[in-house]
This record gives sequence, structure tokens and C-alpha cells, in this order.
Amino acid sequence: MPEPIIKIHDLAWIRLGAPDLDQAEGFLTDFGLLRQVRTDDALYMRGTGEAQHIHITERGPDRVLAIGFLAESEADLHRLAREAAGASGVEPLNQPGGGKRVRLKEHNGFTIEVVHGTPTVAKLPERHSVMNTGAARERLGEFQRITPRPCQVKRIGHAVLSTPDIEGSVAWAQLHLGFVVSEHVHAEDDPDLLLASFNRADRGEEFVDHHIMMFGRHHRAGLNHVSFEVQDIDDLHAGHDWLKAQGRQHLWGIGRHLLGSQIFDYWKDPWGRVHEHWTDTDVLNAAMAPRKVPKSEGLRSQWGPQAPQEFREAASV
Ligand SMILES: [Fe+2]
Repeated sequence: MPEPIIKIHDLAWIRLGAPDLDQAEGFLTDFGLLRQVRTDDALYMRGTGEAQHIHITERGPDRVLAIGFLAESEADLHRLAREAAGASGVEPLNQPGGGKRVRLKEHNGFTIEVVHGTPTVAKLPERHSVMNTGAARERLGEFQRITPRPCQVKRIGHAVLSTPDIEGSVAWAQLHLGFVVSEHVHAEDDPDLLLASFNRADRGEEFVDHHIMMFGRHHRAGLNHVSFEVQDIDDLHAGHDWLKAQGRQHLWGIGRHLLGSQIFDYWKDPWGRVHEHWTDTDVLNAAMAPRKVPKSEGLRSQWGPQAPQEFREAASV
């Protein structure tokens, strides 16, 4: 594998187009995001974490406009602009918070924005459930009360692309974004037929989420889903009930993935783009060698429902 041009630090945001910002904000508010800024043409939503925004909607056709990643430094932006084929120059980010970016086209033609210099904001207060488990009593003299409410999205976690040329997509992302493989899923009867590739950010010894970007083999290229971390399992369930009560479109969950181990719940926005809530991910570091697993051990739920066909077919463009 060639040396990557840069190693990105984390995911920054998803940028989607939508014809109606009121509808977009309604869904995203029910989903647990908070409005940071809204202009005539765009909606910037944040979580409780330090990022100014993690979900951007631009008024226009319902399109996947870009997936944004955070660079470690401005020097990395310049390196990418210089060395990546087809990259834009380093350009100012003309949006609230500012910063700089380089735009690239990934293997299927989707826009990747690599960004740096958008200042962080103060974290917001978060609700956490303290659980008394079979192993330990940690909530002493306090009652557990969960009121009906949207969940609290903390941060953006990962994006998943469906792609007809999975090997090409993974190679592109490894070269331009510096991902390392956490797990590869292959066909049951053919260890060389790659079906899914779970990639994480390379931060060396530091433990990071099991995947920041996953690629799934599919006949159509598109965004399969974008995913956000919520506070804990109570928060995820409360958010589920809230979205259901508002008549939002549920797709899959609640369950626990095998690869990545997240407790998950999937919803569709008003234009059918799949948004995931998860809590409790595996975290890995450089000490963990890439793993290879057959489909029967990979793409399934440990508990909860298995993936419906509609989820497997999801590929928004
Ligand atoms: Fe996911």
C-alpha cells in the first residue's frame, strides 16, 4: 500500500441538499441535532460536542453534496492540494465559522471536503444515565426518570458509501485520507471477494472508533447512511420513541451490530437519506491488525432485527 498523502483527524460533517429547509430542520430537530445557524440558503446543525456544525443542509435539489473530514493541520490541506490528482486549491470556507478546505472527488465522483481552521464551540450539557447493572451498583439513592424527548446527538461518527468498485474506493480513501482497515468482510465461499470494508482514522496508538468510513459492494454508488453518536442506550431508546411519535420513517433497529458492536437505530429523512443513531462503539488502535471475516460472521446483528432489504439497497446520490 502506498504512503497516504495525508491522514485525516476525524469526520467533520455531511453536506446535503434539500428543497425545503423547514422540513429538513423539523426532521433533524426530532433526530436530536440543534440549530447552530440558519441562513436563507442553508441550515447548520450541531450536536452537544465541540464542533460548530456536523450536519449542513443547502437549499436546492435533494442531493448528497459532500462528506467533510477534518485535517490535522493547514499544512495538510496544502499538501493535499498539491499532490492529489484533481484536487481544488486551498480555498476559504464561505460559511458560518469559516475555515479552509480542499475539495476532491472520490472514486465514485462524490465530493470530499477536507477542512481545517473552523473554530470549535463550547460543549453543551449532556444527559447520561447511570445504570445499576448486575455487576455494579452505581446509582445510589437516585431515581431513573426518562422524559419524552429527542435524543441528544453528541457528534458525527461515520459515513457509509455503496460502491460498485469497492477495491478502487478503498484504495482511493486510503491514499487520500489515510484510513486503515479495521475489518474486511468477504463472500462466504470466496475469501477474495470483498463485500464490505470498515476503515478507521489512523491516529497511531490513540484508540478511535472502529470505523469512520465503510464501503459496501453494491451495483449503485451512493450514500448508504450517515451516522451520529448519541449519549447512551436510554438516550437512543428515548430518541426512537420520540421520532416514532412524530411520525418519522423508521428503517432498521434497535439492535447491536456485530462489526463495530454499536447499538444502532436507523431513520430516513424526508427525502429518504438514511441517518443512524448509535451508542457504544468498539475502539481500536495501531496495535490491532486488520481482521478478515466471512459474511455470515460480519454483516449481522448480534441482537435485534437483521438488516432489511431496503437498508441494503440504500444508495442516495
Ligand atoms: Fe453505521
